[in-house]
Amino acid sequence: MRASDLISKKRNGGSLSREELHFLMQGYVSGTIPDYQISAWLMAVYFRGMTREEAADLTREMIDSGSTIDLSGLTGPLIDKHSTGGVGDKVSLILAPLVASFGIQVPMMSGRALGHTGGTLDKLESIPGYTTALSPEDFRRIVSEVGFAMTGQSETIVPADRKLYALRDVTATVESIPLITTSILSKKFAEGADTFVFDVKCGRGAFMKELDQAKELAAHLTETGRHLGKGVIAVITNMDDPLGAMVGNFLEVEESAACLGGSGRGGELATDRRSEDLMSVTLRLAAWMLVAGGKAKDVDEGEAMCHEHLGNGAAWETFVRNVKAQGGDEKEFLSRLGHYRAPLRHAVPAEHEGVLFGIDAFKTGMASVYLGVGRNRAEDDVLPDVGIELLKKPGEEVARGEALCRIYARTQEAVDLAVETLDGAFDIRTGETFPPKTMILDEQAEL
Ligand code: URA
Repeated sequence: MRASDLISKKRNGGSLSREELHFLMQGYVSGTIPDYQISAWLMAVYFRGMTREEAADLTREMIDSGSTIDLSGLTGPLIDKHSTGGVGDKVSLILAPLVASFGIQVPMMSGRALGHTGGTLDKLESIPGYTTALSPEDFRRIVSEVGFAMTGQSETIVPADRKLYALRDVTATVESIPLITTSILSKKFAEGADTFVFDVKCGRGAFMKELDQAKELAAHLTETGRHLGKGVIAVITNMDDPLGAMVGNFLEVEESAACLGGSGRGGELATDRRSEDLMSVTLRLAAWMLVAGGKAKDVDEGEAMCHEHLGNGAAWETFVRNVKAQGGDEKEFLSRLGHYRAPLRHAVPAEHEGVLFGIDAFKTGMASVYLGVGRNRAEDDVLPDVGIELLKKPGEEVARGEALCRIYARTQEAVDLAVETLDGAFDIRTGETFPPKTMILDEQAEL
């Protein structure tokens, strides 16, 4: 077999067989097939798509590129949630400890910043000492002892996704339904959960901009997941505006801490109206996990239960236990809340008065990448202390000159680039009635 023949087969609209996909994945992971050939294949997949069978075969080959985590023997229920990627999307940081505080075990294999979207692992690693490079044994132990653990793809677990994910990020091949499906499912199957809840993001800050595309991605995920023998729930959620008040790495950890009831320790950021959209998505997904785990009879009861554990400190305590278990320095972490900000601060003022109708999540995400929240090149490091704090959220009135957001940056060049990127991101209107935002757009459960 030759990689170039497989690339042209895909480019011409053909489907690769399991053996051909095996050849590509093994060659890529072992280094005999170079990045430039895999980049060309990815672009061919981007334009030509994949059949369901081909996507299922690629998922299996990606899983088989490494080892899987054996969680058998854990008492469970073992349920995980995965997002297709958003801006200000810190749902996992709040949801995992919240759900774990009810005795559900959450083995979470997450991703890094991708394109204009943030990465859960990058956010967590902004906590001093926190490691996401867990051995399978430590992952299993922490799930068992704390209730949830957060890890990433590694040299041994789904190495194919680890390499493909970074390559897609810099070759403009992220927004592909089969590539997203296979990337997510390979991680989910390798980590050992029984049931998955997918947060399929839809809107200008998501990879799927339109509802019909998001529904197609949800269908791909649920059908392929079911095909491989797992319970799957897909919730399509609104990603037009950034979620919550913060877009950044530690900034998002801080907002999560406040939402988990660790406020008071969150300095100037208490849980406030700016996090309402974030919390409505988080509570819905968490409630589905409680339903799937047999803890709640329906999502309404699940949401009410979640409110209780946010209020009585159970969710926050579970989060802090995880920080310690994954090597985080609790004291230093708590002391950074409310203070850990890059040195340059710049407020973006409203050009005119009116009601804020929307904040373009894509532009906000790109501006945050330029600040260093995400990566411009695969080898770039992300910065823990930069980002954007939204001071106004959709539905609020603003006066001319009032600050809409505050940028935290390390260099003036980054500030200038972020300001330029945010041009036109804030949609302020006068004389029109603000339509309430719907956060939950669709739900499909196959348990
Ligand atoms: N999340 C993933 O894990 N992979 C993708 O391709 C997109 C979102």
